Amino acid sequence: MALSQPMQDALNAQIREEFTAFYLYLSMSAHCEAVNFPGFAQWLRAQATEEQGHALKIFDYVQDRGGQVALQAIPQPAHQWKSLLELFEQARDHERKVTASINRLYEVAAAEKDYASHAFLEWFLTEQIEEEKTSTQLADTLRMAGDHPGALLMLDREAGARSGAGEEESAE
Ligand SMILES: [Fe+2]
Ligand SMILES: [Fe+2]
Repeated sequence: MALSQPMQDALNAQIREEFTAFYLYLSMSAHCEAVNFPGFAQWLRAQATEEQGHALKIFDYVQDRGGQVALQAIPQPAHQWKSLLELFEQARDHERKVTASINRLYEVAAAEKDYASHAFLEWFLTEQIEEEKTSTQLADTLRMAGDHPGALLMLDREAGARSGAGEEESAE
């Protein structure tokens, strides 16, 4: 069964969402590097790579289904944040937005009776549980750390140590 036009449009819009997340995390990584939080910078860069992977997963799927990929413009991300807390709150809010857009994609698949897209989207639904959990935890921990330099440096080191593991996970 060929991709319906509404399904194809929704998938193309989701490719843009994933590249938007890629761009946002990459910008956040540059900011963290600039303000001397190399651990968070590394973590965010690994996260950006994951988002690029999500975009390409949908890109491949559209083509596997004989559809037409139509890449769209990516909005310019912010490049400065007042604090790490503000940055990670934005990351968490962005992940919530992505979850909502995956849910809408799922609704389109249901309306179009596109069972293959349903199956394909399961992976993204599960992935979003993890993405929301991780970003919420980071924002909550940073709120607890406040302006305490010792706590922030410790969290930065932890984030740097974790980003290696994150890359292995995304390679699966
Ligand atoms: Fe994603
Ligand atoms: Fe994400």
